[in-house]
Order: sequence, then structure tokens, then C-alpha cells
Amino acid sequence: MHFSTLLATSLALAGSALAAPSSPGHVKGDSLYKAMLSRGRTFAGTALTLRDEPAEPKIVHQEFNSFTPENAMKWESTEPSRNSFTFTDADRYAKYAKDNKLQIHCHTLVWHSQLPAWVANGGFDNKTLIAIMENHIKVLAARYKNVCTRWDVVNEALEEDGTYRKSVWYNTIGDAFLPIAFKFAAKYTDKKTKLFYNDYNLEYNGTKTDGAARIVKLVKSYGIKIDGVGYQAHLATEATPTSPGAAPNTSVLEAALRKTADLGVDVAYTEIDLRMNTPATAAKLAVQARFYESVAKSCLNVKRCVGMTVWGISDKYSWIPGVFAGEGAALVWDENYNKKPAYAGLLKGILKK
Ligand code: G3I
Repeated sequence: MHFSTLLATSLALAGSALAAPSSPGHVKGDSLYKAMLSRGRTFAGTALTLRDEPAEPKIVHQEFNSFTPENAMKWESTEPSRNSFTFTDADRYAKYAKDNKLQIHCHTLVWHSQLPAWVANGGFDNKTLIAIMENHIKVLAARYKNVCTRWDVVNEALEEDGTYRKSVWYNTIGDAFLPIAFKFAAKYTDKKTKLFYNDYNLEYNGTKTDGAARIVKLVKSYGIKIDGVGYQAHLATEATPTSPGAAPNTSVLEAALRKTADLGVDVAYTEIDLRMNTPATAAKLAVQARFYESVAKSCLNVKRCVGMTVWGISDKYSWIPGVFAGEGAALVWDENYNKKPAYAGLLKGILKK
């Protein structure tokens, strides 16, 4: 069966299994961000790669008040060689935000990945690497001072067991690299900018979540500003080759959010996608819709959960099939930009009290 036929069928089927996507009161003007604002939260966002796809600006306009540049602000894109900065691409996103009055979740300052070899393999000593970090943060933060609503200051510093990832940052500077990064970020960003630690697999409320809580406490113990923890939420709806099982249920998700929220920081879902073994079927899409609902509900059940971002608009461009062969269909719009049952699930999870 052709994918679009399959989806048309599944939409019809799932529409009867779930709350109708266009139930009364939501016939016109359904909007993820308006729903979030109506529940006292601050954003609904998407990862964004600006490309020639006429459907995307319309969806962004209707559904989102925030976006995360998918790759443009990463180190390899902005400082490919030492102290030589390239902002052509990143500036497009700053302009897009300004032109469309959108928040930007700026992503990301200190990460082990998409880090150019000159940093990762440069063999720098502690002092020099700290100076390199400061310079990078200073230049990026200054350039986008009035642009970034939030910054992912440090990304993915934890191993799955909650210990620190053996990155060049940790191996050279030790765990001090975290408070140091946040200190520089606080120094060079606007006071209003929210500074986040961001990681994946925090949603299971296990030792990795404890690791994130430890980071919040560590940074705070120096009196340094840290405003939030981003739970990426790259989850699966069933067991797949890269996931031992389905995503956690609402109460586990909620408990995981609270583990850091209770330390006095905001929390947010920053990169949501819920993958499955492809091809998608009507039944799998209905399950996926319930998972989207559950993720949204967990956020709404936690007072300090300020917003949610999905990691892309359409399945057409999701990073997943390219990295996890045989998996995908993880987003809320299908490859033809039709809303999937997941959309109704997400909206329901936001609105249902
Ligand atoms: O831009 C080059 C292009 O010039 C080249 O021809 C092409 C050939 O491979 O590569 C292009 O770069 C790719 C880039 O995306 C832009 O499309 C990289 O290879 C590819 O690795 C990169 O993937 C990104 C990935 O991060 C890298 O780690 C994904 O788009 C992006 O969605 C993904 O996002 C990450 C978050 O930043 C952090 N959390 C996990 C999340 C998913 O992996």
C-alpha cells in the first residue's frame, strides 16, 4: 500500500479510536502553542531547518511560537576553525525568529558531538580549553544576545549510567567544565535568557536522571545560574533495535521531570520524537498518538514544565531513518505534511485536565 493511502486509512481509523482530531471547539484554529499558552505554559516549538518547503512556514505560523535551530548554531557550524566564526547560516534563524516574532531555543554551546576536530583532538591543556570555551560562548552569546530565549549551555554530558561522558571537556577539565560553562553563559547572555542543561533518556527516571539532578545541584552549589533542564524525549513507541521497549508511562515521565524541577529549575521537553519500526500501520499510529498524549500530559502535570518542542515538523526530514535503519515515522506530520493521529494525541494531552 502506498504510504499516503496507508496514512489516510490510519487517520480515519485512529480518529475513531482517539478523540477526534477536529472535535467541537477545535474545528478551526487548532494550535499547539495556543493550547500551551491557554494552560499557562510558555511555548510549543519545533526543531527547524530552513528549507524550500512551502508547507513548513504555514505550519510554524499556525502551531508554534518557538523553534530550535536543528544544526545551525552548533560548534562545527559556527567556529569551524579556531576563532574563525561563520554566522551566515545561524543569522538566517535569528532573522526568521525576528521576522516571525518567535522564541528561539538556541542549541547548543558545549557539546562533545558536532564539535570540530580542532577542539576534540587538539590536545589542549585545561587552561587553554577553558579559554577556547569562554571565547566560543562569549562570541555566540553576544551575537544572539537579544535573540535567544533559552540556550542549551551544555548538551549530553552524561553516560547512560549517570556518570559523566568521557568527552574532551570532561577528560580535560573534569566535572568543573559544567559550572564553568554555565558561568560563562551567565556572564555573556542577557539576564532574561534561560540557561538549560539538555540530555536524552532522562525520561525514564533512572540513574541518568539522577545525573542531571546532580548537575543542577553542582552548578547551583557555586551560586551559578542554571534555569532549566531539557528532557529531549527521543523515545520509541515499541521495542525497536535501538530501544529495549516503549516509552515510559505518564507517571514515570512525571516523576522524572520532578526530579530536577523539584530542585527549583524549569523543565521542558526539548526534542520530542516517538519512533517505531517502519512502515507505520494504523494500529502503530494509534499507539503513537497515545504516547504523544502521555508525554504532553506529564508536562502539564508538572507546574515547572514550561514547554515542549518536537524535533522537526515532517517525517520526511526526521534524522531517525538515516541513523536508526528501519525506524522512523516519529513526528506529528507525515511525509506529505498531513497531520497524523499523533497531532490529536499531543493536543489532547495539552488540553485535557
Ligand atoms: O550539512 C551537511 C551537508 O553539507 C553534507 O552534504 C551532508 C552529508 O552527510 O551532511 C550535512 O550535515 C548533516 C547535518 O545533520 C545537516 O543535515 C550531518 O551529516 C548530520 O550528522 C547532521 O545530523 C544532525 C545530528 O543532530 C548530528 O548529531 C541532525 O540533523 C539533528 O537532527 C541531530 O539533532 C540532535 C540534537 O542536536 C541533539 N540531540 C540529539 C538529536 C538527534 O540526533
